[in-house]
Amino acid sequence: MKSSLKTFEEYFSQSVEVRMQHYEKAGRLQHVMLSHQFSIKLMEELFDIADHIKGMTRKPNGIEFLKSLLSHKKAMLYFTQPSTRTFLSFLTACQMVGMDTGEVRDPSLSSEYKGESQEDGVRVFSSYFDLIIMRDPKPGFCEYMAYLLDNTGRSVPIMNGGSGKDQHPTQALLDLYTIHRSFQHKGGISKKRYAFVGDLLRGRAVRSSVMLLSQYKDVEMDFVAPSSFQIAEDLEDILRSQNIKIRKTDDLGSVLSDVDCVYMTRLQDEYDLSGESNLIDYSQFSLTTDNVNQMKSDAIILHPLPRRHEISTEVDADPRAMYWRQLRNGVYIRAALLLYVFNVAHRLKDY
Ligand code: CP
Repeated sequence: MKSSLKTFEEYFSQSVEVRMQHYEKAGRLQHVMLSHQFSIKLMEELFDIADHIKGMTRKPNGIEFLKSLLSHKKAMLYFTQPSTRTFLSFLTACQMVGMDTGEVRDPSLSSEYKGESQEDGVRVFSSYFDLIIMRDPKPGFCEYMAYLLDNTGRSVPIMNGGSGKDQHPTQALLDLYTIHRSFQHKGGISKKRYAFVGDLLRGRAVRSSVMLLSQYKDVEMDFVAPSSFQIAEDLEDILRSQNIKIRKTDDLGSVLSDVDCVYMTRLQDEYDLSGESNLIDYSQFSLTTDNVNQMKSDAIILHPLPRRHEISTEVDADPRAMYWRQLRNGVYIRAALLLYVFNVAHRLKDY
């Protein structure tokens, strides 16, 4: 949607709630920028679409039918920050629904090497493709590109595959989808206690997932982190204003036996300014078979991955370990998002 404001700075200084309205077209999401854009109603719609897709991929004629849905659309994957899961699951999701794809992962192999700006590069993508999926280390960069295309270029949907330390909305969506599937016969997502563990200050996946989870009734959240990497003040303020029951601690053992879900994260030392991560004993924010034994028998363990040492590989065999399933869910929910954004999900009923 076009903005009447003159500069991006003016536009970006508006609240998230105002900016969100610009990312809709004809009552549905056009750009996927922020986890705030997903209401419970919309998430449930997407979970349902993802369940359908998952079932269809088990049958050859289902796979063929899915491929017919968006075979007239093309997606550009522009990832200027390293990624394995987000890149590959978006690529697989595009292939699943029949979209052709192009990619730039190393700007030194594009005309950025010759001095072309990222802004011009993205405008080129919008001329050749119907959708741009992007990851960039700069917070707000995806929003800037959406603003730019909407106001000066050919507007095509943009999906944020991770922007700096601030947002990773599709990771949050796959996290919630995994929680939904894990708890759908155990009372659902509401009224449960969730622990987030590790580098909570700089982890964009935690930021985005906490925002989605906070919409559910009577959830409680434990933030287990070294004091220097506790959740950001603005996020804590939002949760407190929503009357969410939160606790902050640096003692993982003190919460492990009480929670229904443990969301582990790695140290995000790529954002270090002067080696501050080296001062942390991260082993205290780790799961081994010993401390996993303290957890409830029906609790779940999530991790956006990649991991380093914060979950021992021996834990992988524990039935509560959901992180491999979680990354597989990323393909189905991202495919669901593609069908939703291009408004073809209703065609699933023709199968
Ligand atoms: N979870 C996640 O974003 O992984 P990648 O960095 O590998 O995409």
